[in-house]
Amino acid sequence: MSARTVRAPAKINLHLGVGAPREDGFHPLETVYQAVGLHDDLTAREADTWSVEVEVPDWMRGIALPTVEDNIVTRAATLLARHHGIEPTGSVHVTKSIPVAGGMAGGSADAAAALVALDRLWGVETSDDDLLRIAAELGSDVPFALLGGTALGTGRGELVEPVVDTGTWWWVAVPSHEGLSTPAVYRHFDQLHPGAPAVPPPADDLLAALAVGDVLALAETLRNDLQDAAVDLRPELGALLERGRSEGALRGLVSGSGPTCVFLCDSADGARAVAGALGDDTRHPVVLVANGAVAGAHLVTYG
Ligand code: C5P
Repeated sequence: MSARTVRAPAKINLHLGVGAPREDGFHPLETVYQAVGLHDDLTAREADTWSVEVEVPDWMRGIALPTVEDNIVTRAATLLARHHGIEPTGSVHVTKSIPVAGGMAGGSADAAAALVALDRLWGVETSDDDLLRIAAELGSDVPFALLGGTALGTGRGELVEPVVDTGTWWWVAVPSHEGLSTPAVYRHFDQLHPGAPAVPPPADDLLAALAVGDVLALAETLRNDLQDAAVDLRPELGALLERGRSEGALRGLVSGSGPTCVFLCDSADGARAVAGALGDDTRHPVVLVANGAVAGAHLVTYG
């Protein structure tokens, strides 16, 4: 029986400049995404009906997952099938490693993986432009999950273009056991920043650091405008960010809308040392090491 497996990466926002909400409620962004080596794998098999099964590692047990009906994978299948005028069928299995509701775009990775896998499984040969358009309909971060690498995101984050990135960057990621709702964090941002600018703060300095591969300059220019809102909703994140710094990370940052915190380190060994030190704390038993940039959603089975 025919099957396709696609691997899709988590993302970090190295720069997340947020402007005042637009008329449609979304916030204008200037963001720099980086795909990092934490992946969800999605396998789609031929079947007469539609089903989605999600497998999580032990440390994610107990975290609420969406039902098959409101799973973003089902939404991806529905939109892709509608685009081609066919019925969505398949048996999909998702193996998660990206923290759920953690600010690392795990759901977006699964949506991107589903688009690529089902396009192949159904043999419908969707054009890149159509795939990106459908991805944008599914969520602001989904086009980037297709693209991968390091990219500038504008609009509400869905307009993506690759940027020059000559470095290899080492990150430690510390997920929380309880997720944070992205809309709630944006709402709190609005309360904290009633005078946010219409045009989001630009990423120019950070882009210059990426282009020359300077880790100290990158550490200095990392920016997340949602960080104070996330830390206000989860005050313990403030202490975690401090702790990472004192254990040797160059900089700590809330990932996207949080609550996962990421720490930029000077090398692979540096990242392992910081991860080892942070892993001693029973308040956050899971500590992950990942490097970037890595590829976007891609097939890992052929034939
Ligand atoms: O696009 P996505 O489905 O990921 O967005 C989830 C929610 O996050 C939106 O409904 C909105 O509340 C908020 N959001 C926003 N501005 C953005 C992206 C997301 O306000 N640029």
